[in-house]
Amino acid sequence: MKSITRRSFLGRSGTGIAVASVIPAVGAPLAQQESAAETSSSRSSVQLRVNGQDHRLDVEDRWTLAEVLRDHLDLTGTRLGCDRGECGACTVLLDGKNVYACSYLAVWAEGQEIITVEGLADGDQLDPLQQAFITHDGPQCGFCTSGQLMSARALLNDNPDPTEMEARQAMAGNVCRCSNYNRYLESILAAAKEGSRG
Ligand code: FES
Ligand code: FES
Repeated sequence: MKSITRRSFLGRSGTGIAVASVIPAVGAPLAQQESAAETSSSRSSVQLRVNGQDHRLDVEDRWTLAEVLRDHLDLTGTRLGCDRGECGACTVLLDGKNVYACSYLAVWAEGQEIITVEGLADGDQLDPLQQAFITHDGPQCGFCTSGQLMSARALLNDNPDPTEMEARQAMAGNVCRCSNYNRYLESILAAAKEGSRG
């Protein structure tokens, strides 16, 4: 896998906008067009461990983890809301920590344990947070729910018995357009009280 820093990724994203407006015109020198195509399709072979399963994938270096999960592994429980690191709908766990999958390159995730919402339940046994979300009417439209679950799981992994304020702070990166924050909070505190699996 090639080494891609977050700085170079962001730099590349920024130039991507500029490049889009200067796509080589018809009639541009062939070598110039080939060079542009080569730059935009740099690829790597990566091994991703997702929900306990290993996947060997050939990915474009610019693909985000969210793209790979949704479009190449059919794990569509990871939602795309803003696709720019602002809403939290795409949250997954990387080595137990919550990360915005829309703002994290797939190639960076190699060697880390990736858990998506599809990996939370243990067979038919729901994660205590999933059960608490149901019991306490957490989801309304449900669009943000998988991201809320993953951030809540990261919180309880680190802090199995959070205070209300600690839970509110931990969930600050997950926006809910239905504004059901109090029910989500109630669910998380209830799951913590009943004893999360960590
Ligand atoms: S879709 Fe990733 S933060 Fe909004
Ligand atoms: S439940 Fe609708 S966006 Fe959160």
